[in-house]
Amino acid sequence: MRKGILTIAAVGLLTTGGLTACGDDSGDKAASAKTPKIGVILPDSKSSARWETADRRFLEEAFKAAGVQYDIQNAQNDKTAFQTIADQMITGGVTALMIVNLDSGTGKAVLDKAKSQGVATIDYDRLTLGGSAQYYVSFDNETVGKLQGEGLSKCLTEKGAKNPVVAYLNGSPTDNNATLFKAGYDSVLKPKFDSKEYVKGPEDAVPAWDNAQAATIFEQQLTKANGKIDGVLAANDGLGNAAISILKKNKLNGKVPVTGQDASTEGLQNILAGDQCMTVYKAVREEANAASELAIALAKGEKKDTGQTVKDGDRDVPSVLLTPKAIYKDTVKDVIADGYVTKEEVCTAAYAKACAEAGIS
Ligand code: BGC
Repeated sequence: MRKGILTIAAVGLLTTGGLTACGDDSGDKAASAKTPKIGVILPDSKSSARWETADRRFLEEAFKAAGVQYDIQNAQNDKTAFQTIADQMITGGVTALMIVNLDSGTGKAVLDKAKSQGVATIDYDRLTLGGSAQYYVSFDNETVGKLQGEGLSKCLTEKGAKNPVVAYLNGSPTDNNATLFKAGYDSVLKPKFDSKEYVKGPEDAVPAWDNAQAATIFEQQLTKANGKIDGVLAANDGLGNAAISILKKNKLNGKVPVTGQDASTEGLQNILAGDQCMTVYKAVREEANAASELAIALAKGEKKDTGQTVKDGDRDVPSVLLTPKAIYKDTVKDVIADGYVTKEEVCTAAYAKACAEAGIS
């Protein structure tokens, strides 16, 4: 991944025109002649709560604020449905299409088709490898993984773990983000495995980030390791919660640190309960705002300079990569203060005491 001078192209810093990192021209003329209408395809509603509770909400807010027409649909982890939705959106006259691909193959087919019909395209959150999106809007995903690796290491130290066995529950093998997360946590943990400070335990990728399957996989990992797993690098809160459910069955929850990502209500509650070590908060509002700003510009046939590109093979994809933040028990309050989740959602009766202790008022 090559980065431009600006590491973060925050919302509002996008400039019109410019010489670098602009989307290509295809589709611009066709788009400018039509009324802007933005189509968004979300991937599912089970691998993470974020898609329906955060992304949909913040994208809607951004489109409404800009006064543009939009159509947001969810493919529910069905690749055929994904393509059907895209076809319907293109026929329905969208001028820009934003996708969160289910895999690069079907994502590419959709992007290429949209492009051939003069529809502008954006890869939202997940980069479509070998694809043709004019922009990519996401977080610095290697940093997400690095924060998870550092978080696990911090929690293992706090537990006084000696030569801990660390298991991995990686994300979906078809999600480029999962590859980037792993590169990030490997950069922290592999040197510790190599120096024998830590012991590498079982490692599995969870197909489609399926939370139910993750529980089965983790149970097998625990059996394989004869019950000796001292830390779990789980790539998101859903996978983390799956591991925690099995640790609970074995009365190991709270003893074995587990990581996560997405600052979901469940993940934050697991942190407050002491069952999860940390999560990674990604301010989806900023991601939605940046993507919507680009989609609206593209829909009007304008170009924006993001000041940054990401390499996909030989292609430099103009990109916006936002900064993720590690969240521990004492900073759960920051996620609430940012309006990502509410105190009422997180601090239900069972968590009221823990919330008060964590300074959530
Ligand atoms: C996203 C994560 C999410 C995961 C499962 C990834 O591509 O970046 O935020 O937890 O997909 O939906």
